[in-house]
Amino acid sequence: KEAAGKDPSAPAAAEPWKVGAYLSLSGAETQFGIETKEGIELAVDEVNKKGGVKGRPVKVFYEDNKSNPQETNNKVLQLVTRDKVVALLGEVASSRSTIGGIVANKHKIPMITSSATAPEVTQIGPFVFRVCFTDDTQGQMGAEFVVKTMGKKRIGILYASDDVYSSGLATQFRDAAKKLGGEIVVEKSFIKTETNFTTYINEIRDAKPELVYAPIYYNAMVPIARQAKAAGMPGSMFVGGDGWDAETLLQDAGEEMEGAYFTNHYAPDVPWPNAQAFLKAYKERFKRDPSSLSSLGYDSAQLLFDAMGRAKGDTPEAIRDAIAETKNFAGATGTISIDPNRNADKSIVIVQIKNKKFTYFAAVNDKAQK
Ligand code: PHE
Repeated sequence: KEAAGKDPSAPAAAEPWKVGAYLSLSGAETQFGIETKEGIELAVDEVNKKGGVKGRPVKVFYEDNKSNPQETNNKVLQLVTRDKVVALLGEVASSRSTIGGIVANKHKIPMITSSATAPEVTQIGPFVFRVCFTDDTQGQMGAEFVVKTMGKKRIGILYASDDVYSSGLATQFRDAAKKLGGEIVVEKSFIKTETNFTTYINEIRDAKPELVYAPIYYNAMVPIARQAKAAGMPGSMFVGGDGWDAETLLQDAGEEMEGAYFTNHYAPDVPWPNAQAFLKAYKERFKRDPSSLSSLGYDSAQLLFDAMGRAKGDTPEAIRDAIAETKNFAGATGTISIDPNRNADKSIVIVQIKNKKFTYFAAVNDKAQK
Protein backbone atom coordinates (compact mmCIF):
# COMPACT_ATOMS: atom_id res chain seq x y z
CA LYS A 1 0.00 0.00 0.00
CA GLU A 2 1.28 3.44 -0.86
CA ALA A 3 1.27 6.04 1.91
CA ALA A 4 -0.78 9.14 1.09
CA GLY A 5 1.31 11.93 -0.40
CA LYS A 6 3.99 9.59 -1.65
CA ASP A 7 4.96 9.72 -5.28
CA PRO A 8 2.68 7.04 -6.80
CA SER A 9 5.19 6.37 -9.57
CA ALA A 10 7.94 5.42 -7.03
CA PRO A 11 8.71 1.70 -7.27
CA ALA A 12 7.46 -0.54 -4.47
CA ALA A 13 10.19 -1.88 -2.16
CA ALA A 14 12.01 -4.51 -4.14
CA GLU A 15 11.11 -8.10 -3.33
CA PRO A 16 14.16 -9.79 -1.73
CA TRP A 17 15.89 -12.77 -3.28
CA LYS A 18 15.30 -15.77 -1.02
CA VAL A 19 18.38 -17.93 -0.55
CA GLY A 20 18.47 -20.94 1.80
CA ALA A 21 21.50 -21.96 3.86
CA TYR A 22 21.49 -25.29 5.68
CA LEU A 23 24.37 -25.75 8.11
CA SER A 24 25.55 -27.67 11.16
CA LEU A 25 24.85 -24.88 13.65
CA SER A 26 24.68 -27.34 16.55
CA GLY A 27 25.86 -30.91 17.14
CA ALA A 28 29.21 -32.54 16.36
CA GLU A 29 30.48 -30.14 13.68
CA THR A 30 29.07 -26.91 15.14
CA GLN A 31 32.26 -24.96 14.65
CA PHE A 32 32.23 -25.70 10.91
CA GLY A 33 28.64 -24.48 10.61
CA ILE A 34 29.04 -21.31 12.64
CA GLU A 35 32.19 -20.23 10.83
CA THR A 36 30.57 -20.87 7.45
CA LYS A 37 27.56 -18.79 8.49
CA GLU A 38 29.84 -15.90 9.43
CA GLY A 39 31.36 -15.91 5.96
CA ILE A 40 27.92 -15.96 4.34
CA GLU A 41 26.71 -13.09 6.55
CA LEU A 42 29.67 -10.97 5.55
CA ALA A 43 28.97 -11.60 1.85
CA VAL A 44 25.28 -10.78 2.28
CA ASP A 45 26.05 -7.50 4.05
CA GLU A 46 28.48 -6.53 1.32
CA VAL A 47 26.09 -7.24 -1.53
CA ASN A 48 23.17 -5.51 0.17
CA LYS A 49 25.31 -2.46 0.93
CA LYS A 50 25.96 -2.24 -2.81
CA GLY A 51 22.22 -2.27 -3.50
CA GLY A 52 21.65 -6.02 -3.73
CA VAL A 53 21.50 -8.10 -6.90
CA LYS A 54 19.67 -6.53 -9.86
CA GLY A 55 18.30 -3.95 -7.44
CA ARG A 56 16.80 -6.52 -5.08
CA PRO A 57 18.22 -7.22 -1.60
CA VAL A 58 19.32 -10.73 -0.69
CA LYS A 59 17.73 -12.47 2.28
CA VAL A 60 19.21 -15.71 3.57
CA PHE A 61 17.06 -18.23 5.44
CA TYR A 62 19.31 -20.24 7.77
CA GLU A 63 18.43 -23.74 8.94
CA ASP A 64 20.30 -25.80 11.52
CA ASN A 65 20.51 -29.50 10.66
CA LYS A 66 22.15 -30.28 14.02
CA SER A 67 25.05 -32.05 12.20
CA ASN A 68 22.48 -34.77 11.53
CA PRO A 69 21.62 -36.54 8.22
CA GLN A 70 17.85 -36.93 8.79
CA GLU A 71 17.50 -33.31 9.89
CA THR A 72 19.39 -32.29 6.77
CA ASN A 73 16.79 -33.89 4.56
CA ASN A 74 13.92 -32.21 6.47
CA LYS A 75 15.52 -28.77 6.58
CA VAL A 76 16.43 -28.67 2.90
CA LEU A 77 12.91 -29.79 1.98
CA GLN A 78 11.50 -26.97 4.14
CA LEU A 79 13.70 -24.38 2.48
CA VAL A 80 12.69 -25.56 -0.96
CA THR A 81 8.96 -26.23 -0.53
CA ARG A 82 7.94 -23.88 2.31
CA ASP A 83 10.32 -20.93 1.84
CA LYS A 84 10.62 -21.30 -1.95
CA VAL A 85 14.27 -20.31 -2.07
CA VAL A 86 15.85 -19.74 -5.50
CA ALA A 87 19.21 -21.24 -4.47
CA LEU A 88 20.82 -23.14 -1.60
CA LEU A 89 24.12 -22.79 0.22
CA GLY A 90 25.44 -25.77 2.22
CA GLU A 91 26.46 -28.06 3.65
CA VAL A 92 29.78 -28.01 5.34
CA ALA A 93 30.52 -31.73 5.40
CA SER A 94 30.43 -34.09 2.44
CA SER A 95 28.14 -36.60 4.17
CA ARG A 96 25.32 -34.09 4.70
CA SER A 97 25.93 -32.24 1.42
CA THR A 98 25.17 -35.51 -0.34
CA ILE A 99 21.76 -35.64 1.34
CA GLY A 100 21.00 -31.97 0.71
CA GLY A 101 22.26 -32.26 -2.85
CA ILE A 102 19.82 -35.04 -3.66
CA VAL A 103 16.88 -32.89 -2.49
CA ALA A 104 18.17 -29.77 -4.30
CA ASN A 105 18.76 -31.62 -7.54
CA LYS A 106 15.38 -33.33 -7.44
CA HIS A 107 13.61 -29.99 -6.97
CA LYS A 108 15.86 -28.25 -9.54
CA ILE A 109 17.18 -25.66 -7.08
CA PRO A 110 20.87 -24.83 -7.58
CA MET A 111 23.03 -25.62 -4.55
CA ILE A 112 26.59 -24.55 -3.87
CA THR A 113 28.45 -26.36 -1.13
CA SER A 114 31.23 -24.27 0.30
CA SER A 115 33.40 -27.01 1.72
CA ALA A 116 32.23 -30.55 0.86
CA THR A 117 35.24 -32.00 -0.94
CA ALA A 118 34.14 -35.63 -1.60
CA PRO A 119 33.86 -36.21 -5.39
CA GLU A 120 30.42 -37.88 -5.01
CA VAL A 121 28.69 -34.65 -3.99
CA THR A 122 28.62 -32.86 -7.33
CA GLN A 123 28.10 -36.14 -9.18
CA ILE A 124 24.51 -36.08 -7.85
CA GLY A 125 23.42 -34.00 -10.83
CA PRO A 126 23.33 -30.73 -12.77
CA PHE A 127 22.10 -28.52 -9.90
CA VAL A 128 24.90 -29.31 -7.44
CA PHE A 129 28.10 -27.20 -7.39
CA ARG A 130 31.01 -26.51 -5.08
CA VAL A 131 33.54 -23.69 -4.56
CA CYS A 132 36.15 -25.90 -2.85
CA PHE A 133 38.57 -28.33 -4.50
CA THR A 134 37.77 -32.05 -4.57
CA ASP A 135 39.43 -34.83 -2.61
CA ASP A 136 40.92 -36.39 -5.78
CA THR A 137 43.06 -33.28 -6.08
CA GLN A 138 43.53 -32.88 -2.34
CA GLY A 139 44.70 -36.53 -1.97
CA GLN A 140 47.02 -36.20 -4.95
CA MET A 141 48.55 -32.95 -3.63
CA GLY A 142 48.88 -34.42 -0.12
CA ALA A 143 50.71 -37.44 -1.54
CA GLU A 144 53.02 -35.30 -3.67
CA PHE A 145 53.83 -33.18 -0.65
CA VAL A 146 54.58 -36.19 1.56
CA VAL A 147 56.56 -38.25 -0.96
CA LYS A 148 58.22 -35.57 -3.09
CA THR A 149 58.53 -32.47 -0.91
CA MET A 150 59.05 -34.13 2.48
CA GLY A 151 60.77 -37.16 0.97
CA LYS A 152 58.93 -39.68 3.21
CA LYS A 153 58.54 -43.21 1.86
CA ARG A 154 57.26 -45.34 4.80
CA ILE A 155 53.76 -44.05 5.40
CA GLY A 156 50.93 -44.92 7.82
CA ILE A 157 47.27 -43.98 7.32
CA LEU A 158 44.60 -43.38 9.99
CA TYR A 159 41.02 -42.47 9.06
CA ALA A 160 37.31 -42.74 9.97
CA SER A 161 35.81 -45.65 8.04
CA ASP A 162 32.20 -44.50 8.46
CA ASP A 163 32.74 -41.01 7.04
CA VAL A 164 32.59 -40.44 3.28
CA TYR A 165 35.09 -37.57 3.40
CA SER A 166 37.65 -39.32 5.57
CA SER A 167 37.59 -42.73 3.90
CA GLY A 168 37.44 -41.17 0.43
CA LEU A 169 40.40 -38.91 1.02
CA ALA A 170 42.36 -41.81 2.52
CA THR A 171 41.73 -43.77 -0.69
CA GLN A 172 42.78 -40.90 -2.96
CA PHE A 173 45.94 -40.35 -0.94
CA ARG A 174 46.81 -44.06 -0.76
CA ASP A 175 46.54 -44.52 -4.53
CA ALA A 176 48.53 -41.39 -5.30
CA ALA A 177 51.26 -42.09 -2.72
CA LYS A 178 51.80 -45.62 -4.04
CA LYS A 179 52.11 -44.36 -7.61
CA LEU A 180 54.74 -41.90 -6.45
CA GLY A 181 56.78 -44.69 -4.87
CA GLY A 182 55.55 -44.45 -1.27
CA GLU A 183 54.92 -47.58 0.78
CA ILE A 184 51.88 -47.83 3.07
CA VAL A 185 53.38 -49.75 6.00
CA VAL A 186 50.32 -49.58 8.27
CA GLU A 187 46.70 -48.55 7.90
CA LYS A 188 44.10 -48.25 10.68
CA SER A 189 40.53 -47.00 10.70
CA PHE A 190 38.09 -46.13 13.47
CA ILE A 191 34.42 -45.21 13.59
CA LYS A 192 33.31 -41.66 14.38
CA THR A 193 31.92 -42.42 17.85
CA GLU A 194 35.25 -43.76 19.18
CA THR A 195 37.23 -41.59 21.60
CA ASN A 196 40.07 -43.85 22.69
CA PHE A 197 42.57 -44.36 19.89
CA THR A 198 45.52 -45.81 21.83
CA THR A 199 45.28 -49.32 20.36
CA TYR A 200 45.46 -47.93 16.81
CA ILE A 201 48.20 -45.50 17.75
CA ASN A 202 50.35 -48.21 19.33
CA GLU A 203 49.93 -50.45 16.30
CA ILE A 204 50.86 -47.60 13.99
CA ARG A 205 53.90 -46.65 16.09
CA ASP A 206 55.10 -50.27 16.17
CA ALA A 207 55.06 -50.43 12.35
CA LYS A 208 57.59 -47.55 12.38
CA PRO A 209 56.22 -45.28 9.66
CA GLU A 210 58.12 -42.06 8.96
CA LEU A 211 54.84 -40.22 8.76
CA VAL A 212 51.08 -40.78 9.27
CA TYR A 213 48.44 -39.40 6.92
CA ALA A 214 45.32 -38.59 8.97
CA PRO A 215 42.47 -37.21 6.80
CA ILE A 216 40.05 -36.70 9.69
CA TYR A 217 38.07 -33.91 11.32
CA TYR A 218 39.50 -31.70 14.08
CA ASN A 219 37.20 -33.22 16.70
CA ALA A 220 38.90 -36.63 16.31
CA MET A 221 42.34 -35.21 15.62
CA VAL A 222 42.52 -33.51 19.04
CA PRO A 223 42.41 -36.72 21.15
CA ILE A 224 44.53 -38.53 18.55
CA ALA A 225 47.28 -35.90 18.76
CA ARG A 226 47.27 -36.06 22.55
CA GLN A 227 47.21 -39.84 22.77
CA ALA A 228 49.88 -40.12 20.06
CA LYS A 229 52.18 -37.76 21.88
CA ALA A 230 51.78 -39.80 25.06
CA ALA A 231 52.70 -42.90 23.01
CA GLY A 232 55.86 -41.21 21.75
CA MET A 233 54.62 -39.97 18.38
CA PRO A 234 54.86 -36.19 17.97
CA GLY A 235 52.11 -34.34 16.11
CA SER A 236 54.63 -33.29 13.48
CA MET A 237 54.56 -36.94 12.32
CA PHE A 238 51.01 -36.39 11.07
CA VAL A 239 49.92 -34.86 7.79
CA GLY A 240 46.23 -34.05 7.36
CA GLY A 241 43.59 -32.56 5.11
CA ASP A 242 41.18 -29.66 5.32
CA GLY A 243 39.19 -31.31 8.13
CA TRP A 244 41.82 -30.07 10.59
CA ASP A 245 40.98 -26.43 10.04
CA ALA A 246 39.25 -25.39 13.24
CA GLU A 247 40.33 -23.06 16.01
CA THR A 248 39.58 -25.87 18.51
CA LEU A 249 42.44 -27.92 17.09
CA LEU A 250 44.90 -25.11 17.84
CA GLN A 251 43.45 -24.44 21.27
CA ASP A 252 43.19 -28.04 22.43
CA ALA A 253 46.11 -29.68 20.63
CA GLY A 254 48.17 -26.81 19.20
CA GLU A 255 51.21 -27.76 21.25
CA GLU A 256 51.01 -31.44 20.36
CA MET A 257 50.56 -30.58 16.67
CA GLU A 258 53.43 -28.10 16.40
CA GLY A 259 55.12 -28.39 13.01
CA ALA A 260 52.44 -30.56 11.36
CA TYR A 261 51.36 -29.83 7.76
CA PHE A 262 47.99 -30.21 6.07
CA THR A 263 46.36 -29.41 2.75
CA ASN A 264 43.81 -26.63 3.00
CA HIS A 265 41.72 -23.99 1.23
CA TYR A 266 43.08 -20.93 2.92
CA ALA A 267 45.28 -19.52 5.67
CA PRO A 268 45.00 -16.05 7.19
CA ASP A 269 48.47 -15.15 5.85
CA VAL A 270 47.95 -16.50 2.32
CA PRO A 271 49.52 -13.82 0.06
CA TRP A 272 46.63 -13.21 -2.36
CA PRO A 273 45.03 -9.75 -2.55
CA ASN A 274 41.45 -11.01 -2.32
CA ALA A 275 42.27 -13.19 0.65
CA GLN A 276 43.80 -10.21 2.39
CA ALA A 277 40.78 -8.00 1.66
CA PHE A 278 38.52 -10.69 3.12
CA LEU A 279 40.78 -11.08 6.17
CA LYS A 280 40.51 -7.36 6.89
CA ALA A 281 36.71 -7.26 6.54
CA TYR A 282 36.26 -10.41 8.61
CA LYS A 283 38.55 -9.24 11.41
CA GLU A 284 36.78 -5.89 11.61
CA ARG A 285 33.48 -7.62 12.12
CA PHE A 286 34.33 -10.75 14.13
CA LYS A 287 37.52 -9.60 15.94
CA ARG A 288 39.55 -12.71 15.10
CA ASP A 289 41.16 -14.49 12.16
CA PRO A 290 38.85 -16.31 9.74
CA SER A 291 39.10 -20.04 9.06
CA SER A 292 38.83 -21.86 5.74
CA LEU A 293 35.20 -22.45 6.51
CA SER A 294 34.47 -18.73 6.82
CA SER A 295 36.41 -17.89 3.68
CA LEU A 296 34.68 -20.67 1.74
CA GLY A 297 31.26 -19.67 3.10
CA TYR A 298 32.01 -16.15 1.90
CA ASP A 299 33.11 -17.37 -1.54
CA SER A 300 30.08 -19.64 -1.96
CA ALA A 301 27.72 -16.71 -1.27
CA GLN A 302 29.69 -14.18 -3.35
CA LEU A 303 29.92 -16.53 -6.30
CA LEU A 304 26.18 -17.22 -6.08
CA PHE A 305 25.32 -13.50 -6.00
CA ASP A 306 27.65 -12.88 -8.92
CA ALA A 307 25.88 -15.63 -10.88
CA MET A 308 22.43 -14.27 -9.92
CA GLY A 309 23.53 -10.91 -11.31
CA ARG A 310 24.69 -12.46 -14.59
CA ALA A 311 21.75 -14.87 -14.95
CA LYS A 312 19.46 -14.38 -17.96
CA GLY A 313 16.42 -14.65 -15.68
CA ASP A 314 15.44 -14.84 -12.02
CA THR A 315 14.51 -18.52 -11.98
CA PRO A 316 16.50 -21.26 -10.26
CA GLU A 317 17.26 -22.74 -13.72
CA ALA A 318 18.67 -19.45 -15.03
CA ILE A 319 20.77 -19.05 -11.88
CA ARG A 320 22.02 -22.63 -12.28
CA ASP A 321 23.18 -21.89 -15.82
CA ALA A 322 25.01 -18.74 -14.70
CA ILE A 323 26.80 -20.62 -11.89
CA ALA A 324 27.91 -23.23 -14.43
CA GLU A 325 29.41 -20.49 -16.61
CA THR A 326 31.56 -18.98 -13.83
CA LYS A 327 35.14 -18.35 -14.95
CA ASN A 328 38.04 -16.75 -13.02
CA PHE A 329 35.93 -15.62 -10.11
CA ALA A 330 38.18 -13.71 -7.68
CA GLY A 331 37.48 -15.34 -4.32
CA ALA A 332 39.02 -15.13 -0.86
CA THR A 333 40.19 -18.72 -1.37
CA GLY A 334 41.77 -17.96 -4.75
CA THR A 335 40.67 -17.71 -8.35
CA ILE A 336 37.77 -20.08 -8.99
CA SER A 337 36.51 -21.45 -12.31
CA ILE A 338 33.59 -23.87 -12.36
CA ASP A 339 34.50 -26.86 -14.54
CA PRO A 340 32.09 -28.97 -16.65
CA ASN A 341 31.64 -31.35 -13.68
CA ARG A 342 30.49 -28.41 -11.50
CA ASN A 343 33.66 -28.57 -9.43
CA ALA A 344 35.97 -25.66 -8.64
CA ASP A 345 39.25 -25.51 -10.48
CA LYS A 346 41.59 -23.71 -8.05
CA SER A 347 44.75 -23.78 -5.95
CA ILE A 348 45.39 -25.78 -2.79
CA VAL A 349 47.29 -24.33 0.14
CA ILE A 350 49.78 -26.26 2.27
CA VAL A 351 49.44 -25.01 5.83
CA GLN A 352 51.79 -25.61 8.75
CA ILE A 353 50.87 -25.41 12.44
CA LYS A 354 53.36 -23.00 13.99
CA ASN A 355 53.13 -21.41 17.44
CA LYS A 356 49.46 -22.42 17.65
CA LYS A 357 48.66 -20.71 14.36
CA PHE A 358 47.74 -21.94 10.90
CA THR A 359 50.57 -20.61 8.77
CA TYR A 360 50.80 -20.45 4.98
CA PHE A 361 53.59 -22.69 3.65
CA ALA A 362 53.00 -23.00 -0.11
CA ALA A 363 50.35 -23.03 -2.82
CA VAL A 364 50.10 -26.13 -5.00
CA ASN A 365 48.01 -27.00 -8.06
CA ASP A 366 48.63 -23.32 -8.57
CA LYS A 367 46.20 -21.37 -10.73
CA ALA A 368 48.54 -18.36 -11.01
CA GLN A 369 46.73 -16.41 -8.30
CA LYS A 370 46.72 -12.71 -8.92
N1 PHE B 1 36.06 -31.09 3.33
C1 PHE B 1 35.33 -31.58 4.45
C2 PHE B 1 34.24 -32.51 3.95
O1 PHE B 1 34.01 -32.57 2.79
C3 PHE B 1 34.73 -30.47 5.27
C4 PHE B 1 35.68 -29.41 5.72
C5 PHE B 1 36.03 -28.37 4.91
C6 PHE B 1 36.23 -29.43 6.95
C7 PHE B 1 36.92 -27.39 5.31
C8 PHE B 1 37.10 -28.46 7.36
C9 PHE B 1 37.46 -27.42 6.54
O2 PHE B 1 33.59 -33.19 4.68
